[in-house]
Amino acid sequence: MNLLAKLREKIAATIAGMTDDPQPLLELVRRSGDPKFGDYQANLAMPLGKQLGKPPREVAKQIIDSLQKDHNLAELCEPPEVAGPGFINFRIKDEVILNALQQALTDERLGVAKVASPQTIIIDYSSPNVAKPLHVGHLRSTVIGGALDRTLRFLGHNVISDNHIGDWGTQFGMIIYGYKHFRDDSAYKDAPVAELSRLYRLVNQLVEYHQAIKTLPASDQELAKIKSQIEQAKAAEAAASDKKDAKTRAKERGRFQKKHNEVLERLNSLRSKIAAVESDDKLQTIAAQQANIGQAVLQETAKLHSGDEENLRLWNEFMPHGLAQLNRAYERLNVSFDHMLGESFYHDMLADVVQDLKDSGIAVAGDEGATVVFLEGFDTPMLVQKRDGAFLYSTSDLATIRYRMREWKPDVVLYVVDHRQSLHFQQLFAAARKWGVTDVDLRHIAFGTVMGEDGKPFKTRSSTTVGLSGLLDDAVEHAYSVVTENEQRDDDADPLPDDARRNVAEIVGLGGLKYVDLSHNRDSDYVFKYDKMLNKKGNTATYMQYAYARVQSIFRRGDVDPVELRQRPGAEITLENPHERALALEIVRFEEALYEVTIDYRPNQLTSYLFDQLSKNSSAFYENCPVLKAESQKLRDSRFLLCDLIGRTIKQGLWLLGIDVAERM
Ligand code: ARG
Repeated sequence: MNLLAKLREKIAATIAGMTDDPQPLLELVRRSGDPKFGDYQANLAMPLGKQLGKPPREVAKQIIDSLQKDHNLAELCEPPEVAGPGFINFRIKDEVILNALQQALTDERLGVAKVASPQTIIIDYSSPNVAKPLHVGHLRSTVIGGALDRTLRFLGHNVISDNHIGDWGTQFGMIIYGYKHFRDDSAYKDAPVAELSRLYRLVNQLVEYHQAIKTLPASDQELAKIKSQIEQAKAAEAAASDKKDAKTRAKERGRFQKKHNEVLERLNSLRSKIAAVESDDKLQTIAAQQANIGQAVLQETAKLHSGDEENLRLWNEFMPHGLAQLNRAYERLNVSFDHMLGESFYHDMLADVVQDLKDSGIAVAGDEGATVVFLEGFDTPMLVQKRDGAFLYSTSDLATIRYRMREWKPDVVLYVVDHRQSLHFQQLFAAARKWGVTDVDLRHIAFGTVMGEDGKPFKTRSSTTVGLSGLLDDAVEHAYSVVTENEQRDDDADPLPDDARRNVAEIVGLGGLKYVDLSHNRDSDYVFKYDKMLNKKGNTATYMQYAYARVQSIFRRGDVDPVELRQRPGAEITLENPHERALALEIVRFEEALYEVTIDYRPNQLTSYLFDQLSKNSSAFYENCPVLKAESQKLRDSRFLLCDLIGRTIKQGLWLLGIDVAERM
């Protein structure tokens, strides 16, 4: 039951005649931070009083009166109080909580209602580039997108998941080129995916090597220039006339210093690319013979795009291998998609899209024969076709928007993609609006970078490139040692056999990986640490999974069958102890937490509900309200029923995040 929504509904009806813009005021109705001030608190009387030119306390009283007289507040709350300068404190009636719990007990959905007006929501997520190693960023998209997918569906929206894979890009030019020049037939026959990825890495390395050689001198010069700028800035700083001037100069020097570090980092990366090839005789010989490999790769790509028979045949041969590899990862991560319409699917529509843009005057000839779209508020236009006729990522995305609008008529499209693509999406959405696509909410659900402990983008131990399966294996391996260590200490029951432990490790490891991603505010970068991921005390999947297993263990020890108990006549929940009530209120608030996830598409609203609210209140409940040793049978039943709801809410909540639980850990 969504208590907050119900309360806001009543308040909305009450203040309808008092203001033209109720929405921001209604947002001031919130859960209260301290139970002393009731369960919910409304801070709207202050701004409303200002609008009306009346003392806030008076406005608060007026609202309360009307809520009680005209809007039947009593069916939800005890008579509210006005506190301080005009806060209104609401306390939900115990019987309301009890009714909601009683309903949740026998409902598979735990009493969570479906939305009154479902929307059609397309979620574009995961979207990796086939035949390139999947990396942590794609894992993040898969995990966040997957959680939003499940949550929005659960709430009754019409969700269409579409994995917009990159299956048409330069990486295929690389693989095709590699296949034609460097393939090892028997390796390809034995393990095609491994051989193709070797070819990709080899060609990519050679291309990058030659690029590095070419750009190195310019970067060297750039560095020298910045160094002299820093020297000049230092001198200017020393010669500054006063403190203020010195400060400005110091700032300037700081800016140069920052730039210096960036260029230096770039230079080092170029140098290490060069060194990696030159330190290997065989590689160096190949590199020397392949001076034009960059150009050649582009040509292979262009041939593929223009329908060259051989390249198309090779592409069709390679694709299933790449897809199979992806699908293995998806299976393990337990995600699936309604559609996997990648860039190749849109290829034949691109010329028409550009023509349409030109015909409607949206796209024009830009510099040097390219076709571009100028957009208000952006310094640079968006490129939709290059001079040589090649189309771009943006063109493909515009075609995708048109297709989705025609085919699925969405209300909302969510793009769960790395924040580094923000500019692309801003321009894309602006161009789409200009193109007449206005009847849809297009949203970039951006997320930050996963960092390693060295402050650089995260890499697994087992490989230098961030292979996804390596990461999954590493996580499971770490989890296995934690689970084993725990078994040795557990005195609750017989130890788990090794294969069961491996099972649990898979659940704990993959769950941990997902939860870390989901529990951080999606916009921020975060530092990834295995210890933290598997910490049994923090806000982690491991903690939540233990909390779930704990409930199961209480049922085992009490020899109680939850299914039977739920239906047993006379067994019901009572709320005598304040810890029971606080816990019960949190269980009812599950639905509210799910809505909070959907406001700005933030799964961390759900993890923080599970950890900060549900679990903390469960711990206080266990500490203060003995279950197995309850004073009476009636109380024992009631507490077991609360335990049942704790367990099921955790399980359901984790399921919505794509995370499993184990009955025993
Ligand atoms: N394949 C792209 C990448 O890996 C992400 C695609 C995201 N979706 C989209 N419609 N642009 O960077």
